Order: sequence, then C-alpha cells, then structure tokens
Amino acid sequence: MNHFFSVKDVDDIDALVEEAFAIKANPRGFEHVGRGKSICLMFLNPSLRTRLSSQRAAQNLGMDISVFDVGSGGWQLEFSDGVIMNGNKAEHVKEAAAVMSSYFDIIAIRAFAKLEKREDDYSEQVLTQFMKYSSVPVINLESSTLHPLQSFADLITIREHVSKPRPKVVLTWAPHPKALPQAVANSFAQWMDAVDMDLVVTHPEGYELSEDFVPADCIIYDPKEAFEGADVIYAKNWSSFKDYGEVNNTDTKWMVDENKMRLTNSAKFMHCLPVRRNMIVSDAVIDSAESLVVEQAANRIVSAQTIFKKILES
Ligand code: CP
Repeated sequence: MNHFFSVKDVDDIDALVEEAFAIKANPRGFEHVGRGKSICLMFLNPSLRTRLSSQRAAQNLGMDISVFDVGSGGWQLEFSDGVIMNGNKAEHVKEAAAVMSSYFDIIAIRAFAKLEKREDDYSEQVLTQFMKYSSVPVINLESSTLHPLQSFADLITIREHVSKPRPKVVLTWAPHPKALPQAVANSFAQWMDAVDMDLVVTHPEGYELSEDFVPADCIIYDPKEAFEGADVIYAKNWSSFKDYGEVNNTDTKWMVDENKMRLTNSAKFMHCLPVRRNMIVSDAVIDSAESLVVEQAANRIVSAQTIFKKILES
C-alpha cells in the first residue's frame, strides 16, 4: 500500500480485518514497525476522534508524531496549479508537500468538503494535489467525499458484533440543522459494497447520494420498510447531493427512535460521532445495550494503526 485514499487501495479486505484483530489483541506488539519513523497529522478542519485515535495509533507503533492545524498555525495554501498567487494564499501545495515530505515518513490529511460547488468537492483537489506533490505516502483522514478510516473501523465493529453471513445493514439519513458533507455515507456504502453485506440506504426523496457510491437499487424510501429485519442501523445526516449542500428536509420522523428499532432484528445501532442527540437518534436508542457508538470510536485506533502499519511495511 502506498497512499490510503479509499477502500480501493486495499488488496484484500478480509485479510486487513484479520490484521486489525491481531493488532487489537496486542496493540503494543508492533512497536518495532514504527520506531524511528514519523507522521504528520494535518488538519484543515476540527476533529476529536480522528485527531486523538491517529495519535494513539502512531504511539502504539512507536512513531514520532506532529499535529499541524493549518487554519490556526499554518499559511493559507493554494491548491490550484498555474494560478497567479496575488490573493491571501501565501504558499503553494507544491512546496508545502515537498517540504513536509522531507520532514516526515507519512502525511495524513483532513480536508472536508466546502459544500459550495459539487464539482470542486468531488474533484478531491486537496488530497489529489498532496498525493501528486508528496514523495511520501498520504493518508485520508476524511476528505471531501470519503472517510475510509471511519468506514474501516465500522467494518471491524460490525464483524465483531454480527456473526451471520450477509447481514442486512441499513444506512439511514437522519435530520440535522446544518449542512454536512456526504463523505461518511459515501465511504460507508463503498466499504459495505466491497464486502458481502446486504446494504439498504433509506432517505427522503432528493437526498440520493452519488450513484458512484450508492446505486438506485440499494434505496428504499420508506424508512419503516427499510428497517424491517435489519441487523445493523447506521445513522448519518448528509446534505443534498442533487441540490448540492442544501438542507431542505429536517423532518423529525427520520430520527432513529425505539419504535423504528422495534422493526429490526434486534439491530445494533451505529453512528460515527459526533452526534446530535434527539435529532439524529433518541437518548433511549443511543444509550441502549444495542448501541455500538463508543466501540466504533475505540476501533478508530485499530483501523488507523492497521493502515499505518501496512504503509510502513510497504
Ligand atoms: N468520526 C469522526 O471522524 O470524528 P471526528 O470528526 O471527531 O474526528
């Protein structure tokens, strides 16, 4: 593995999950892999889990870690080639990526969608330009369209808790007052499609995700029908892909509550966090024994450590 941008960078997902289980059983057992190696965690956006779990993962591997908050401590970066830099962006990615490559063995980057122009976000300019101009591996800590370390942690969590073959996994849209990117939903669908899951996606009309990630035959618009017999309910809000970045539905009937969970096959409840209680999910569901949200977050260390190790060994 060179760069880790999406599930498409993984050769064998089942083998990767097995490796994750081995790391989880013995987190400090691979310190020799990262000793003398360094990683920069570069954030263009806020984070709790990604920031802390990536640091814990790198520490478990014996690595040196720098955290770089671009917005508060770095120059504003220009990501387009060939522009006249007469605005407020002081440094071009071409130099920034080259310099950082001379300091670190791995560069990991968080750069959210701006939700202004769909074609800009879906071009993945920040990660693409860093991968182009960096001479060391680049890892996606959530880009405009994908959050692969989250989805890998989600898959690990599902494999730990649901043993039946081809479980029914339902990704349900849920209401939120602010516009959020589609990255977690896209990425979750991409990983579930890459392994043997019966994936159903339910959302209000107008909230269809890109067909590159969710084909039309996965969608059931009626949430009650979608929840019927589910083994896993994964809740997430996303803003409209069609009316790009807009919030045109806040209907609370889409919140995950006990009534809907009763339709399922005693489903596990999942969410990537942070979550707005009693908007996305009721207190009763997130506080129930079926809720896996903290275990998912804990598995972020495992997913990050597995990917860092793979890259260091490459
Ligand atoms: N789930 C997740 O990526 O959380 P943070 O935004 O806090 O990193």
